[in-house]
Amino acid sequence: MLDTANLKDITQGITTYPLSGVTTNPSLIKAESPSDFFGHLKKIREIIGPGRSLHVQTVCQDCEGIRKDAARIRSVLGENTYVKIPVTEEGLKAIRILAQQGCRVTATAIYTTMQGMLAALSGAQYLAVYYNRMMNIDIDANKVIKDLSGLLWANSGNCKLLAASFKNINQITSAYTNGASACTVGYELLQKGLHMPSIQEAVDDFGISWRSLYGDKAIWDL
Ligand code: E4P
Repeated sequence: MLDTANLKDITQGITTYPLSGVTTNPSLIKAESPSDFFGHLKKIREIIGPGRSLHVQTVCQDCEGIRKDAARIRSVLGENTYVKIPVTEEGLKAIRILAQQGCRVTATAIYTTMQGMLAALSGAQYLAVYYNRMMNIDIDANKVIKDLSGLLWANSGNCKLLAASFKNINQITSAYTNGASACTVGYELLQKGLHMPSIQEAVDDFGISWRSLYGDKAIWDL
């Protein structure tokens, strides 16, 4: 998934990369500073179409407020919207109630296996696990992802591990190899995965070989 609220990045990203959705949070919204919050999110939905998931975070910190935020998000953006709820005590309460009512929940701000287990057991459909933020405070993100994905697998429920908060490509590949079902990544970082001189060098070398035989003609030209 793409972790951004930037309309240009989303438009470009979905034409190139195998993206299944877009995740946002209040800081990513702040980076775009749209005057019309819901108008901006509607534009994101329009760009990504109905087949990709859109994840929008609640802001209130008490259960009642979170439920109201969720209700408003769903009524304006549609019931297929994933409501992101931080896994605090109040958040957990809200996750359980909302999930029982059929709301799609992405539990977020997950730093520990315990948080993830509780959110999954409360009915969340995605667990947004904060890779880089964990590493910053010496929590072993790979272990948390491995343990949690094992638990999700063993319980064969409907919950998926969505690794998030990445600062380099190695973190993304490590999250996947440790069992993440999905990763949400900023556009610039995603592009870094293919922007390596060696890749272009290999492609250019093949081009030189081809042109030495057939000049500027393409295969479709022969
Ligand atoms: C996604 O769900 C998170 O909000 C996001 O990845 C956090 O990333 P950050 O640590 O770069 O703010």
